[in-house]
Amino acid sequence: MKHLLKLGDLTKEEILSILNLADQLKYERKNGVNKKYLEGKKLGMIFQKSSTRTRVSFETGMYELGGYALFLSNRDLQIGRGEPVEDTARVLSRYLDGIMIRTFAQKEVEDLARYGSIPVINGLTDYCHPCQVLADLMTIREYKGNFRNLKLCFIGDGNNMANSLMVGAVKTGMKFAIACPKGYEPDAALMQWAKENGEFLMTEDIFEAAEGADVVYTDVWASMGQEEEKAKREQAFAGYQVNGKLMSVAKKDAMVQHCLPAHRGEEIAAEVFEAHAAEIFEEAENRLHAQKAVLCKLLR
Ligand code: CP
Ligand code: NVA
Repeated sequence: MKHLLKLGDLTKEEILSILNLADQLKYERKNGVNKKYLEGKKLGMIFQKSSTRTRVSFETGMYELGGYALFLSNRDLQIGRGEPVEDTARVLSRYLDGIMIRTFAQKEVEDLARYGSIPVINGLTDYCHPCQVLADLMTIREYKGNFRNLKLCFIGDGNNMANSLMVGAVKTGMKFAIACPKGYEPDAALMQWAKENGEFLMTEDIFEAAEGADVVYTDVWASMGQEEEKAKREQAFAGYQVNGKLMSVAKKDAMVQHCLPAHRGEEIAAEVFEAHAAEIFEEAENRLHAQKAVLCKLLR
């Protein structure tokens, strides 16, 4: 494993190995053990979009591992003024040991990896969010013990989260069902891959998707960069809400996951969010452990 550009690049074994290391790092941290696995290593973090979890967990993660993280906003970098990514990649490769990037186009992340000579980690693009899904898989396994016979359903926009969850679910052997309105489906090639490699259902009916689900997942109706579509999307997604009625068709012990930030009263009802807050915030915490595991795999 040289980079983390998208989950589809990893084998099932590589995913499980990251999750195992993440569990170990979580255990060590809980027990006051703080090994400096990345002593002296430097990670550049390029952000072309906002972030709370990704930024803070990568930054504190590097600190805990004995390394150093540089926050590089596109407002300050020359990349924001049009310096080509292929030049940025070659320059940063001479200063740093790794780059994490959050941006719009997946191609920019792939180009950074292609032209640079250090590991690149995708911290979210319009296409996918692999770091989030590693934390999600870690949380699901923590609560459910393993992935066998589990059904994961996603309610809402076929966005970056849906794309990565679909891949993560199929790779770990979970059934994956998504309910989204027409015109808001996930990536077509990924859906084809999911159909050929796992148990996959796409429907417009949220109850069909959530029927017997072990994990109910949702995300915002309008992602970063889609702010001007907000009103149109509110109409399209009306009814695509994780609420008490929907949860009543899922398994009794179903868990709820949300990558956050959440919009209560839109994709998720406030009472469902609060009833499942423990596992949602465990999921947020697990970003730290899962990312530290990725950093160790790539930068050590
Ligand atoms: N879930 C997630 O990536 O959160 P941030 O946008 O706050 O980083
Ligand atoms: N789909 C959301 C995820 C945020 C973590 C977005 O891209 O804004």
